[in-house]
Amino acid sequence: MEIIRIPGEMQAMAGKILHQGKSIGFVPTMGALHEGHLSLVRRARRENHVTAVSIFVNPMQFGPSEDFYNYPRDIDGDAEKLRREEVGILFMPDSSLMYPEGFSTCVDVEGISGRLCGAFRPGHFRGVATVVAKLLNIVKPARAYFGQKDFQQTVVIRQMARDLDMDTAIVVCPTVRESDGLAMSSRNAYLSEREREAAAVIFRSLAGASGLIESGIINVERIKGFMHEKIAAEPAVSGIDYAGVYDPATLEEPAATRDEILLAVAVRIGGTRLIDNMLVSLRKER
Ligand code: PAJ
Repeated sequence: MEIIRIPGEMQAMAGKILHQGKSIGFVPTMGALHEGHLSLVRRARRENHVTAVSIFVNPMQFGPSEDFYNYPRDIDGDAEKLRREEVGILFMPDSSLMYPEGFSTCVDVEGISGRLCGAFRPGHFRGVATVVAKLLNIVKPARAYFGQKDFQQTVVIRQMARDLDMDTAIVVCPTVRESDGLAMSSRNAYLSEREREAAAVIFRSLAGASGLIESGIINVERIKGFMHEKIAAEPAVSGIDYAGVYDPATLEEPAATRDEILLAVAVRIGGTRLIDNMLVSLRKER
């Protein structure tokens, strides 16, 4: 595995690979890698000649009171995991090279960036869209892989790629979960044992709501009420940013339910903010 730290060197390497007629599959991450990340890496390996992974804890997507400085970092452990997956290139740029003095361009995906998590994390999706745009220009992948776990992120990135005519296919992969249903996340490392147990309520609220819908209850207020009640009943939950039913395309609360709906949750357990979601099809199987 080649480790590259300089954006210009990564760009030159990508140019060489493309010149050889090979495709690059790219997985952008912030490190502290777990099975969720590795599922994206495996898919990228299957579908491309060369696999590139980036590890960059992007300061632009963290708010001033968020966890940028405490964000879990394990470069040696991560590199070892990626070597085992036979990744070709690990791109690990320094922040000073990604955002040199004088940097002044941002990507704003208007509308959807302000909904759901965007309402609680102002500027977050501007930071995500900007860094992903930069990374795609540096790594030049045929395909870039993202997890459904961060559903809104996938909607924002797809919209950006479409609007800016980016020549990379955005591939969204299923959420990988622990045995009790908790979605894997680097931030799960912040949870105490008691909080970790309590966090399973997020998945149970999604699965319960999905069960209600499958049994024919498609009243948005009722489903939302069920999710809030279930989550609030867990004493370790310190706050609910949102929990409810949304249109997967616009991320707005649907006035009328459609073919497919998004169940999405953001809660705080102690000091840790966790998100999860589930897509539910309303079309009757024949
Ligand atoms: P990070 O949180 O490290 O996640 C990197 C990728 O892994 C994202 O596409 C995320 O959705 C995916 N992922 C995380 N947990 C997952 C799980 N349990 N199952 C499947 N996929 C999962 O998301 C980011 O970093 C950043 O915002 C980034 C896109 C790298 C831009 O800085």
